[in-house]
Amino acid sequence: MKAPGEKRTSMTPFTDPCSPGLFPEDLQPLAAFRDESVHYRFCLYDTVGSTNDTALRLAREGAPHGTVVIADSQQDGRGRRGRSWHSPPGVNIYMSIILKPGEIAFHPSLVTLSASLAAAEAVSLDLFPRAGTSAWPKWPNDVYCRGRKLGGILTEAVFAGDRIGFLVTGIGLNVNMQAADIPEDFRDGTTSVCIETGEPVERARVVRNTLGAFTRYYSLLFSDPSAVVADWCSVSRTIGSYVKAVTPQGILYGTAEGLDENGFLRLRRDDGEELSLSAAEIVHLRDHDG
Ligand code: BTN
Repeated sequence: MKAPGEKRTSMTPFTDPCSPGLFPEDLQPLAAFRDESVHYRFCLYDTVGSTNDTALRLAREGAPHGTVVIADSQQDGRGRRGRSWHSPPGVNIYMSIILKPGEIAFHPSLVTLSASLAAAEAVSLDLFPRAGTSAWPKWPNDVYCRGRKLGGILTEAVFAGDRIGFLVTGIGLNVNMQAADIPEDFRDGTTSVCIETGEPVERARVVRNTLGAFTRYYSLLFSDPSAVVADWCSVSRTIGSYVKAVTPQGILYGTAEGLDENGFLRLRRDDGEELSLSAAEIVHLRDHDG
């Protein structure tokens, strides 16, 4: 993927460390995924510890902007706040995109919002026609459907001095996982595309649709970041909800009014005070049918 504003005529040479031959059938179509405007380069793995860790290593070793690490399973999938990410083989999407944008004029949180918006949009293409429901991005980094978690984003930034050297955006999407595949503790709060529709989906198509939408939103960050924030707010059920926010400073209650230009949550507390939250765990208290 060409970084907006970047003058690059050819891809940086990079030795492929991957073994595509080991790859399952419903991901094989990715080998033929090409787009004139998009220069994604796939590194496909049977299994890794974490695709984010592999992508961070490859980026340090010189992998170019637009390299996408995909694994069929993860042994040590990571979520936010040190949580683990359940990553069984053969069913879900675990991918991490290497981004080397150069200097950026927007907050890196907006990359996470672009990814959650893109992923929600992509899975909705399969969800809506079959189940009459859509997925939506939940602040700060989730993808939800009918009140249950369908995916999550983990963006990690590596700094070179005081500037961002590169970013890795990890996307985990529950695609063909069945309820029985989900650990009991998480079963109530977790869903997948297949649980919602009753039909399996080709994972390569969901990857393509997610990357297609991500490219659009990521490019927009360079010309009009407020448009990404506006699009995100227009589909997220977080906005307008009465929420409980668990922050490092304590628990807050209030209405999620919107996001600021950095992607931080604008929370109006019951006493009328408005706060901007950069990080929190959000529980939607007002009923929603999303
Ligand atoms: C979260 O909801 O806390 C974020 C979950 C992110 C999971 C994805 S799966 C692909 C990538 N590799 C990881 O180890 N984590 C992310």
